[in-house]
Amino acid sequence: MAKILITGGSGFIGSNFIRYWGEKYPNDALTNLDRLTYASQGSAALKKSKVRFVKGDICDKKLVEKLMKGMETVVHFAAETHVDRSIQDSQIFLKTNVLGTQTLLEAARKNNVSKFIFISTDEVYGSIDKGTFSEYSPLRPNSPYAASKASGDLLCRSYWVTYKFPVIVTRCCNNYGPAQFPEKVIPLFISNLMEDKKVPLYGKGANVREWIHVDDHASAVEQVLAKGEPGEIYNIGTGEELNNRELTKKIIAALGKDESWIEPVQDRPGHDLRYALDSSKLRALGWKPKTNFDEGLRQTVEWYKNNVSWWKKIKQKGAYKSYIKKQYAGRSK
Ligand code: TYD
Repeated sequence: MAKILITGGSGFIGSNFIRYWGEKYPNDALTNLDRLTYASQGSAALKKSKVRFVKGDICDKKLVEKLMKGMETVVHFAAETHVDRSIQDSQIFLKTNVLGTQTLLEAARKNNVSKFIFISTDEVYGSIDKGTFSEYSPLRPNSPYAASKASGDLLCRSYWVTYKFPVIVTRCCNNYGPAQFPEKVIPLFISNLMEDKKVPLYGKGANVREWIHVDDHASAVEQVLAKGEPGEIYNIGTGEELNNRELTKKIIAALGKDESWIEPVQDRPGHDLRYALDSSKLRALGWKPKTNFDEGLRQTVEWYKNNVSWWKKIKQKGAYKSYIKKQYAGRSK
């Protein structure tokens, strides 16, 4: 029985990872440390999981030190993740993504944790017009969010080099799937269309993202836990690239609507044109994704159709409505 501390296990990627892990390794003892922020809505994905839940902040040194005792493995998902929110106000991003990561690293090191996985992001590399980023590409983050993740990511490197603390960093492409918070493009667009609202496409819709189903991200982390080398970095990518206009058309078609539902809006400042990863290093460990994008999108749309009350409850909250207003009001082109 392995003792695993998951941070951010009530968020989108963390909750899907807990569900995935619980189904495959039901005898492992999982602890989920989550602050229950606005984005901790993953209970829908967590429905049947047996997991010890601790409400708390990864910046809380005392709590983190207490929880770390006897832990063998840490998988650190907890983060502020939404680029547009980091453009509105970046302070909480620095606190959680940098100081929170440092607090966890320090407590884990002191308690001789034998594996620490930091869930980073492809956004640390910045944008690439052609070709792909490898794990050796320079970090050139362009949003406050990406800069905060890059800082946490580099801190992990320093713990390996300085203390030989066995940390592994993963940098994954854009995730989608069940129970993703409806501020991210796919669930925002699916739910808007279901409510007969238009979908706000930034700029020309020419920006390209590489997409992975959240369960394939979970299996990649599983593979890294099993076979990854301490001190190493692994890109997690599918090669499934789409520009935002193509993506929007697929979502619209899946909901049986037409392109008149697209509302072009002003672009995001500093909007990265393209993310694309070379994930051959991880594939050499024996991992490959299972779900192709069209099938994954079909399943995801089904999930949002079957869980209307989950996302409606979120969208009705005052804090969500004021975020959306601040983000989109007056930006139509
Ligand atoms: P997002 O889901 O915010 O992920 P990220 O910025 O981390 O890649 O956005 C994905 C892409 O969709 C990105 O290029 C921005 C674009 N986008 C829109 O066009 N409209 C929107 O309302 C949102 C939220 C994103």
